[in-house]
Amino acid sequence: MRVFVAGASGALGSRLVPQLIAAGHEVTGTHRSPGNAERVRRLGAEPVQLDLLNPDAVIDAVVAAHPDAIIHQATALAGDLDFKHFDRSFHQTSLLRTQGTDSLLAAAKAAGVKRFVAQSYASARYARTGGMVKTEDDPLDPDPIPATREATAALRYLDEVVTGAGGIVLRYGVFYGAANDGLIEPVRKRMFPIVGGGAGVSSFIHLDDAAAATVLALEHRGPAIYNIVDDDAAPVREWLPVLAKALGAKPPRRAPRWMARLFAGEAAVMMGTQSRGASNAKAKRKLDWKLHHPTWREGFAVAYAPIASGNERESGPAAVMSPSPT
Ligand SMILES: NC(=O)c1ccc[n+]([C@@H]2O[C@H](COP(=O)([O-])OP(=O)(O)OC[C@H]3O[C@@H](n4cnc5c(N)ncnc54)[C@H](OP(=O)(O)O)[C@@H]3O)[C@@H](O)[C@H]2O)c1
Repeated sequence: MRVFVAGASGALGSRLVPQLIAAGHEVTGTHRSPGNAERVRRLGAEPVQLDLLNPDAVIDAVVAAHPDAIIHQATALAGDLDFKHFDRSFHQTSLLRTQGTDSLLAAAKAAGVKRFVAQSYASARYARTGGMVKTEDDPLDPDPIPATREATAALRYLDEVVTGAGGIVLRYGVFYGAANDGLIEPVRKRMFPIVGGGAGVSSFIHLDDAAAATVLALEHRGPAIYNIVDDDAAPVREWLPVLAKALGAKPPRRAPRWMARLFAGEAAVMMGTQSRGASNAKAKRKLDWKLHHPTWREGFAVAYAPIASGNERESGPAAVMSPSPT
């Protein structure tokens, strides 16, 4: 297949392109930053510089590439996330998930592209009632924390328009497996405490496993939604000490809810105490997906062994962060 990957230079895109090539596909890979063309080329794709927020440019790029499939992996999450002003931090990404998705779907229509796969998010998305691990059929959180309303609405929009157009939505867990993973610095600096009882559940996914599921999804017809998470949804009080150890950091601090609320806002408190994880049963069954890293319990240690030494740094007061819900 000829595959058009929007966001080929990103965390997932850069794992995905080599796996697509290995599976026999030809890839056109987009990047936003001019300096990333060479990176995309080295991954094995034909690079195209593209701003997904320019609809005409998107149509031109897709028509020129005449792909059989489009995979939307563009986000704008590099840099610090401010959990207190969550929607502000996610604004650009929310635009990529709404306007960017609209542009790619319009381009797919114009170019007669039948297959469409898009990045969504699973961890901390589902309703904060009932069981702690949710399937794709379970309801999403009907009452998101106010600071996250735009970001959650953008994800919901993407899920709806992509499946409405017959495409496949991949609700990934929290990515890990790269040197720039968002949790590394806060955990090393002990700025990410266990909030309250630490009962909020997270779902993780190693980037290589996420890319493998994405390659498999291309072979399937939509509309469909799959949680692309590992086997081991777990509460913060379990995974955070394991992550700290894997990074060679000191154990996480503990923070009462009021303190977390003060320093990091309600979204961080929710993620630390109430959020739900996701089940991968459907993706394993329907996509015949096999994980190389079925649980973060071993995955963190393997992924972070190269960077686990020489990081005894510690920062001051308990600024609080939670896993990035993207
Ligand atoms: N599920 C998750 O946990 C999840 C999901 C996404 C990201 N993250 C995390 O967020 C951090 C940053 O992610 P990242 O490294 O992938 O970087 P990123 O800045 O989010 O960029 C992702 C991709 O989107 C492209 N892009 C950005 N703005 C664009 C625009 N306006 N039009 C078209 N393409 C655009 C980027 O191009 P350029 O690189 O050329 O700018 C890149 O190819 C990482 O730690 C990652 O793990 C986590």
